[in-house]
Formats: sequence, structure tokens, C-alpha cells
Amino acid sequence: MIVAIDGPAGSGKSTVSKMIADDIGFIYLDTGAMYRLFAYKLIKENVDMDNNEEELRILEDLNIDMKNGKFYLDNEDVSDKIRSREVSSGASKVARIKEVREKMVDIQREFSKSKNVILDGRDIGTVVFPNADLKIYLNAASEVRAKRRFEELKEKDKNVNYNEILKEIEERDYHDSSRKESPLRIADDAIVIDTTDFTIDEVKKKIKNLIITKGEGKW
Ligand code: DC
Repeated sequence: MIVAIDGPAGSGKSTVSKMIADDIGFIYLDTGAMYRLFAYKLIKENVDMDNNEEELRILEDLNIDMKNGKFYLDNEDVSDKIRSREVSSGASKVARIKEVREKMVDIQREFSKSKNVILDGRDIGTVVFPNADLKIYLNAASEVRAKRRFEELKEKDKNVNYNEILKEIEERDYHDSSRKESPLRIADDAIVIDTTDFTIDEVKKKIKNLIITKGEGKW
């Protein structure tokens, strides 16, 4: 069974997807982390993100791995490093490139073959798995999403500024939904859940019930 969970940054997708997957024994694939790994590699190698040729050269030899909720680049665990603000905006930039998307989508489809998987991202229900068994689109007001990111980042960096985070989230929303290749949009058959006024637990319960109802007999 394939469950697609799409939505903008900070809508709660990854937290909820991971919790549900753990609960019902599904595999969870955080597709945003894959774009983050590539962006991190470019930053590490000082590659200009507007130089497509260089980016594609690095893409060809990209060595990424995902195991037990950890993300590896060239066999190094970079799970924390890929969560920085610089990598977030870099990931949104590289996600515009057609060849990058094709490579990531191939990996996502291969990974999910004959498994019960929850994937979260921007294009899962529209492009990666248009025939997914269940499609959810999570949304929330940008101020609420920024507040969630702010609280998360504040734990690591005391100087983080809410207004800057809000601006970055809105910029990312703009790039992710206005790009030519697989923009963020609601699939026609997706169930939309606005998480603005819900707790993570409430959202989790809702989606879990939908999966159980939809998936009856499938796993
Ligand atoms: O979900 P996230 O914030 O970790 O994703 C980081 C960036 O990667 C996001 O701004 C857009 C891009 N992305 C994408 O284009 N398609 C996906 N399926 C997942 C993420």
C-alpha cells in the first residue's frame, strides 16, 4: 500500500508520517531529505547552485543512503546537517532541476516497490505515485508553520528570528509551487487537512484512521 502525504514546509508532514509509520509498521520515506542531501553536497563542495552543468556532474556520482531514519552522504551520517536553514533553501533551489527530480523519483519508486510505504514530499500524489492508495494534502497558515519551525530551530540556535523564518517559509512556498517541474499542488483526489488548529496527535489520528479504512485487507 502506498500512502502519499504532500504539503508545504512546516505543515507537519514528516512528524506525522514518521509517527504513523512507526505505529502501523509501514516504512517511511522522507523525500525532502533526498533533495536536502543533494543540496548539502553542493554546499560542501562549493558548487554554485546556478551552474547546472556542475550540478549535474555531482548528481551523476551522488552517493546517498537512508537507513533506520538516518541519512548518509558518501557513507557519512549527515542527518542533522541537512536540517540547517541554508540547506532548506538550497534544497528548494535544486528541486527545480528536471534531471535532479527524475533521479530522485526513480529512487523513490524503486525503494517503494512491493512495500507498505508512507512517503512525504511535494509531488508524491501528483507525479511519483499518481495511483497511490491514499493521498493526503496537509496545509496550515504560513504563520503557524513558521512558528513551528521557529520553536524547532530555537532549541539549537538562540539567535533565530521568527520574522526571518516566516520570510524563508514563504519564499520556499513560492519556489516550490511556482516551479515548472512538478510544482507543489493538491492532487485532484487528495484529502486536504488543514492542521492550523490541530495538534500533531489529532492529525495523526485522522490520517491513521483513513489509512486503516482505505487499506483494509491490503496488508
Ligand atoms: O520537505 P522538506 O522541507 O524537507 O523539503 C525540502 C525541499 O525539497 C522543499 O523545499 C522542496 C523540495 N522537495 C521537492 O521538491 N519534492 C519533494 N517530493 C520533497 C521535497
